[in-house]
Amino acid sequence: MKNVYLVGFMGTGKTAVGKLISRKLHREFIETDALIEEGSGKKITEIFEQYGEVHFRKLERKLLEKLATKTNLIVSCGGGLICNPENLKLMAKSGIIICLKAKPDTIYRRTKQASHRPLLNVKNPLSAIENLLNLREEFYSQAHYCINTDDILPDEVAAEVIKVIDSKV
Ligand code: S3P
Repeated sequence: MKNVYLVGFMGTGKTAVGKLISRKLHREFIETDALIEEGSGKKITEIFEQYGEVHFRKLERKLLEKLATKTNLIVSCGGGLICNPENLKLMAKSGIIICLKAKPDTIYRRTKQASHRPLLNVKNPLSAIENLLNLREEFYSQAHYCINTDDILPDEVAAEVIKVIDSKV
């Protein structure tokens, strides 16, 4: 079976939902950020600080090229991975792309305690969220399916995603 790529903004629940789906469907779970950290021996914040975002995007791209040669994976994608037309093409070719969505307020509430996301470690994270969401909408909206996660639990989102996957088999 083709890979499932869970995309969407930070704090939309890609990792929590991806783990649930992987357990339910007995398919391998991959988190792109975790693999990048493992491969480089550095935290995402350190990669951004020491080498910059452009370098991080190159690492993401390289990893995606590898994942796209595989099948059956459930991939939780870093929030910016799909925001590059070449990555989007590769994902569409090798899998189903499912975008998890949420309102800026929800994202802010879910991410405000954490400090591992360099793009949100800024003075006004809510306005950073709003700006980035606007810029990225053109990419997120190209996913094959979108699911709103504002008022539902990861379990319910996972059930929705599984319905989508089943409908494609
Ligand atoms: C990013 C999202 C993060 C991580 C990095 C950049 C983004 O992943 O890849 O901090 O550009 O949206 P999550 O979406 O898993 O938080």
